Amino acid sequence: MPFNTIIDDLAERGWSLQASFLPSDLTHELAAECRRRETEGALAPAGIGRGEAMEVREGIRGDHIQWLEERQSAVCDRYLALMDELRLSLNQTLFLGLEEFECHFALYPPGAFYKTHLDRFRDDDSRCVTAVAYLNPDWQEGDGGALRMHFEDGSQLDIPPLAGSLVVFLSDRFPHEVLVTQTDRLSLTGWFRRRPADVLGL
Ligand code: OGA
Ligand code: MN
Repeated sequence: MPFNTIIDDLAERGWSLQASFLPSDLTHELAAECRRRETEGALAPAGIGRGEAMEVREGIRGDHIQWLEERQSAVCDRYLALMDELRLSLNQTLFLGLEEFECHFALYPPGAFYKTHLDRFRDDDSRCVTAVAYLNPDWQEGDGGALRMHFEDGSQLDIPPLAGSLVVFLSDRFPHEVLVTQTDRLSLTGWFRRRPADVLGL
């Protein structure tokens, strides 16, 4: 089972950090793809909430995003295929019943941050597991931009967005934030979802 540590970590404590998850060629190509989309003007300020309740509020989050769709680019399809393998492994071992993976590129320009939040929407509990892959080679300590995880016991952990690393956590369990970044910070942020309740007619 290639995803053993992630699965064990999730089962034991609800989160996992994999320092070298992505092969370096994939990380490099994903970063280039994110930059290309930025240059094309395809990345847009991210909103908060969903549907009609969605609004852009720079005081809460300052990243620019674009959602991935299948068959847009070979490199994104490679990432989506990898995450689908992870999804199936999680289902086989932890019986999470995850049905899909949604994910976007995110670019935080200098000065951007994302205030403390949970990833599960108040009106939609379909997001179960968050997975963030980082695409920043040569990240320095002073660049800021750490993902700060807040744990139930009051402790916290700052995770720098280092190229090729992956953070996975249960979406409703850990408040987290992105600290102010000093330099462009690139990532792929995604969620494994169950079927939304409204589709089931609940
Ligand atoms: C998010 C988020 C964390 C990160 O987009 O919801 O919390 O490290 N991202 O980019
Ligand atoms: Mn989040």
